[in-house]
Amino acid sequence: TYVIALPCVDLKDRACVDECPVDCIYEGERMLYIHPDECVDCGACEPVCPVEAIYYEDDLPGEWAEYYKANVEFFDEIGSPGGAAKVGVYNFDHPIIAALPPQET
Ligand code: F3S
Ligand code: F3S
Repeated sequence: TYVIALPCVDLKDRACVDECPVDCIYEGERMLYIHPDECVDCGACEPVCPVEAIYYEDDLPGEWAEYYKANVEFFDEIGSPGGAAKVGVYNFDHPIIAALPPQET
């Protein structure tokens, strides 16, 4: 799967959302999350993020390793909706993101 990391927090450019052929990039309060089971690893989202927040899981920089967990666990209670557009914006974040101080954007 692909993973969204720290640079997305408090920025949410959303350019990635328009590129995803399976609509598996879901919006939380402070960042967006890629659904690990719905993502088909097409890679279309990665180059369009203006702040390089998106990585293939094996290429995630070490300091952002916990974002793999954050993307996966965000869906623990949500399950697999099968499309982000219809569910809209979730008004919460993974605890790792919720605990971050405001990010300069
Ligand atoms: Fe975030 Fe980049 Fe997408 S800032 S919303 S991962 S385009
Ligand atoms: Fe979508 Fe990016 Fe995966 S475009 S299918 S989230 S690699």
